[in-house]
Amino acid sequence: MYKIPANTLFMGKNLVYVPECHSTNTLGSELCQRSATAEGATIITDNQTMGRGQRGNSWHSDPYKNLTFSLVLKPSFLKPIDQFNLTVAISLALRDFLTHRIPGEVKIKWPNDILVNDKKLCGILIENTLSGDTIQCSVVGIGLNVNQDSFSMESASSMKVVAGHDFNLSDELSLLFEFLERRYLQLRSGKLTDLRNDYLSSLYGKGEERRFLVGTSEIIGVIEGFNQQGKLLLATGGGTKSYDLKEIRFIG
Ligand code: BTN
Repeated sequence: MYKIPANTLFMGKNLVYVPECHSTNTLGSELCQRSATAEGATIITDNQTMGRGQRGNSWHSDPYKNLTFSLVLKPSFLKPIDQFNLTVAISLALRDFLTHRIPGEVKIKWPNDILVNDKKLCGILIENTLSGDTIQCSVVGIGLNVNQDSFSMESASSMKVVAGHDFNLSDELSLLFEFLERRYLQLRSGKLTDLRNDYLSSLYGKGEERRFLVGTSEIIGVIEGFNQQGKLLLATGGGTKSYDLKEIRFIG
C-alpha cells in the first residue's frame, strides 16, 4: 500500500490505489474530466497490464516491482504553445530525484526519457486536454523502474540495478512527490529560464554528433537544444533544423 506524502502541499494528497488496471493514464484522464478532481490527484497501480508509452508504444513493468502512476495537473497558467515547459518541469523532477537517490550520471533524453549511465530508468507520458487557448487538464504518467532486476531490452535499467539494493516503493513515491511539487511550483511561478537552462544542462547528447532517422533517411547532426515548442534543434550540414517527436528518432 502507498501512503499519502507528509511533506507536500497538494501533490499526491489525493491518492487512489487500484491493484490492477490497463493504464493509469486512461484512468487519470477520466479523473481529469471531473471538475471536482483536485490538482495533484494521483492514480497508482501495482500491476499495469496495458501500459501506454510515447509514439503509440507500450510500456511494460513487472507487477509489484516498480512505480506506475499518473498525476492529474491543471496548468491553466500555461498556453498550449508553451506546453513543453510542463515536460521540462516533470523531467527535471525525475532527474533531481534520481540524482538524489542513486549514484550515476542522470540525463534527460529528449523529450522526456530519463537515463542513468545511458540506460532508461523512467518513461513519462504527458497527455494534455486543451480548451480554447488554455490547458484544461494534464495527465502526467510516470513509469519508474525501481526494483525490477531483469529487462528484455538491454537499454533499460532500474534503481535497484544501479544502486545494488531494493527500495521501499511507498517511501520512494512519497519523496518523488516532493520533487515533483517543487519543480511544478517553479513552473507555476514562471521561472521558465531557470527550468529551461536546467533541462539543457542535463540534455543527453548535447553538443555531440548523433545519428537519427528522419522518415526513412539516416542523418547525422549535433544536438543544440530545443525551441519554444519543444522541438529538437539539430545542427546538420544544411544548418540548424527543428524536429518534433513524430519526425525524428534517435539511432545512435
Ligand atoms: C515512454 O517512455 O514511452 C513513456 C512511458 C510512460 C509509462 C507510464 S506508466 C504509468 C502511466 N500509464 C501508462 O499507461 N503510461 C504511463
